[in-house]
Order: sequence, then C-alpha cells, then structure tokens
Amino acid sequence: MEKVVSGIRPTGPLHLGNYFGAVRNFIRMQEEYDCRFFVADLHSLTTHPKADDLQANVNRLLTELIACGVDPEKATLFVQSDLEEIPQLYLIFNMLAYKGELERVVTFKEKARKQPNNVNAGLLTYPVLMSVDIIIHRAAKVPVGKDQEQHLEMTRNFVNRFNHLYQTDFFPEPEAFNFGGQLVKIPGLDGSGKMGKSEGANNAVYLGEDPKSITKKVKRAVTDAGPTEPNSTPSEPVANLFALMDAVSAPETVQQFRDAYADCSIRYGDLKVQLAEDIIAFTAPIRERIAELDAQPDFIRNIRRAGAEKARQTARETLEGVKEIIGLGY
Ligand code: TYM
Repeated sequence: MEKVVSGIRPTGPLHLGNYFGAVRNFIRMQEEYDCRFFVADLHSLTTHPKADDLQANVNRLLTELIACGVDPEKATLFVQSDLEEIPQLYLIFNMLAYKGELERVVTFKEKARKQPNNVNAGLLTYPVLMSVDIIIHRAAKVPVGKDQEQHLEMTRNFVNRFNHLYQTDFFPEPEAFNFGGQLVKIPGLDGSGKMGKSEGANNAVYLGEDPKSITKKVKRAVTDAGPTEPNSTPSEPVANLFALMDAVSAPETVQQFRDAYADCSIRYGDLKVQLAEDIIAFTAPIRERIAELDAQPDFIRNIRRAGAEKARQTARETLEGVKEIIGLGY
C-alpha cells in the first residue's frame, strides 16, 4: 500500500486553513493508504524556542486531530520528537543540502523577516528536516496546503540528489497531494493572504473556538464599500469571504450571495451572519468531540505511545538502509 506522511506544527490550535488544506485529506486518505500523521514539535522550535507549554500544545493537537476524524486504528498518529531516527537522518541529509538553495526558500525569507533576531540554522534547514519527516517512511504522497508546495519541491531535489549520488532508487519522489487535485489555500479574515496562526489574532478561525468568538471575528472581517456596478469582480477581502463560504456553506447559499453581489443588492452584514452560522455549524461536531476527549487524557497518552512504536519501525528500516548505502553500515 502506498505510504502517506504529513505533519502539523503545535504552535496553536487547528484552524480552518489547516482543516481544508490538510486534515480533511488525512481523514479520506486513511481509508485508502498506509498513513502516518504527526505533530511537528521539533519544527515549532525554529520559531517558538520557549513554547510555554509545549507538552500541552502537543496533546491538544493530537486531541484535535482525533476530534476531526483521524482514526488511530487506521492511521499512525505520532509525535516527531518521539522518533530518534529523524534527527539522525536529518544530520545526514544536511550534507546534501546547499546553503544557497536553502536561503532562496520563500518561507525562510518570510520568517527571517519576521524574527530578525533569531535567524537560526534550524530555520534555514527547516526544509531538510521536513524532507526527512517524509522520506524516513519512504512516503510518496504528502497531503498539505498550497503553502507547503515549495518544501515538497525541495524534498524531491534532496531525494534525487541522494539517489543520483549513491546510484540507487532507494527513495521514491514524494508529491504534495490534495483529493481535489489542486492544492488548497484558505484565506484569512484580514483581507489579504492566507489564514495562519501567526497572522494576527483576528485572522484565523479555530476549529475548537467558542461560537460567540467565531461570530465576533467574522463580523470584524475586512470587506470593502460594496459593488458599484453589476457583475464586477470582488475585491480581495470580499473574494476571501466567498472562498471561506465555498468551504463551509451549502452551494445554494454561496450562489445566492454571489448573485446578490452581481446585482449589487448584497449586504455584507448578512453575508457575515450567514458565514459565521455556517462555520459554527460545520465545527460543532469537532468541538463536541474535543470536549469528550479532554475528559480522557490517558487515551491520548496511549495513542501517542502506540503511534511512536509503529512509526519507529519504518524509520529504523530506512535509517539502516541509508547507512548501508552511504557506507556507514559497520
Ligand atoms: P503548518 O503547521 O503550518 O500547517 C499544517 C498544515 O495546514 C496547512 N495549512 C493551510 N492550508 C490551506 N490554507 C491555509 N491557510 C493553511 N494554513 C495551513 C499547511 O499547508 C499544512 O499542510 N512544514 C509544515 C509541517 C511539517 C510537515 C512535515 C508537513 C513538518 N514536517 C512533513 C508535511 C510533511 C507546516 O509548517 O505546517
């Protein structure tokens, strides 16, 4: 069975972008593929070196993933730092990654701009660690949102470099994957860019968020002065609200608002009320399940342990294989 790997950083609660870009795919893929999904806690140290409560955030993310429908009986769910093979292979792959290509990565440049006093080497080699997360299981498909596309391209580069240098086909070339074909980018509520945890408090809607807070955030979402002539193209902030509606609302509802936009009768207040209602309804079952799981912390602990054990098997095999290939197998 084809192998699948994907990870999420525990830098905040899951939001709608994480859900539609990644988690929704996890739930479908676990039915058809040999899946490994993990909490990327080591990656989170590149931006959050002193996470006040890393342990709690890791458990929270495991809980939220299960609440969304990731089934630990079907998919292997684990925590990145539980696999010691990952840092070992990361070290080896750092020798195959060039400083120049790492410096050109868009996410590196963005983060270096955001945290000029902490442009650490881990930030630079982030794509190497991410590549290793994938190839340590020799996975071919990686369900991620559009923002991770470049990292997957880097992964293919490293894989090809390894296979070529050592004259082997040991690693398959992994590809970013989404069931709809196109990779997804869910916009935020601030009128520009993507929904993200680090884009400001009012940009992202969290899956576990209280309905009142969801309504408040959506009401504050950026719009414009309204369409002035029929059939005009919506501005970016309004197009973003339509994109969110496309994700959570019934198609007829979205059409109704698009028609109202086209004939200039739209009232953004109504659109926001509808959008907030639909987000709340969409996330309600997830919130309920989070509350149930919060009442059984042992369950999460056991899932974590069992997941690490399973994930370690392929990780160990791969690391041994690599050592053999590069002449460290003594
Ligand atoms: P992270 O933690 O930023 O995000 C987790 C997943 O959510 C997707 N995502 C989005 N998709 C669509 N629209 C959005 N607005 C949006 N925001 C987030 C991301 O694309 C991602 O799929 N580098 C990764 C974590 C990682 C990883 C890996 C992923 C580490 N190792 C190995 C895959 C395989 C990251 O920072 O994701």
